[in-house]
Amino acid sequence: MIVLKINGKAHELADVDADTPLLWVLRDELGLTGTKYGCGMAQCGACTVHADGQAVRSCVKPVGDLVGKEITTIEGLSADGDHPVQRAWKKFGVPQCGYCQAGQIMSAAALIESVPVPTDDDIDAGMAGNLCRCGTYVRIRAAIHAAAQDARP
Ligand code: FES
Ligand code: FES
Repeated sequence: MIVLKINGKAHELADVDADTPLLWVLRDELGLTGTKYGCGMAQCGACTVHADGQAVRSCVKPVGDLVGKEITTIEGLSADGDHPVQRAWKKFGVPQCGYCQAGQIMSAAALIESVPVPTDDDIDAGMAGNLCRCGTYVRIRAAIHAAAQDARP
């Protein structure tokens, strides 16, 4: 029996092997489909979630490594879409097709938590693992600057 704490709630997973990637558990076992499957090999960032506040690629993260950690998905980032990153994403109209955006938002939220005043270089480095086939990178960068400012006390 694996127990994972996801978005503040404990989930008992009786039939899941410890080496199952978290993404499969989120989507197929728990119905948390906001986290997307892109490449399945830690190359695109679409599946990004937080584990103890750190951005992790859930497609390659075995659930056995996550026992005891606080896992947050896009569904749990805020109660009603009012995290500073989500507010900035709306303000700047960042998404195009939207497929990569949950992962982008989770990476951005972790970035401004660890780097409260990010430079362009910090943003480019922090977001380098999140690909967007629609090329929304300019709006992503602008929105992260705004979100970081909004998040500062
Ligand atoms: S689906 Fe996990 S990094 Fe692409
Ligand atoms: S918005 Fe379409 S892949 Fe990023």
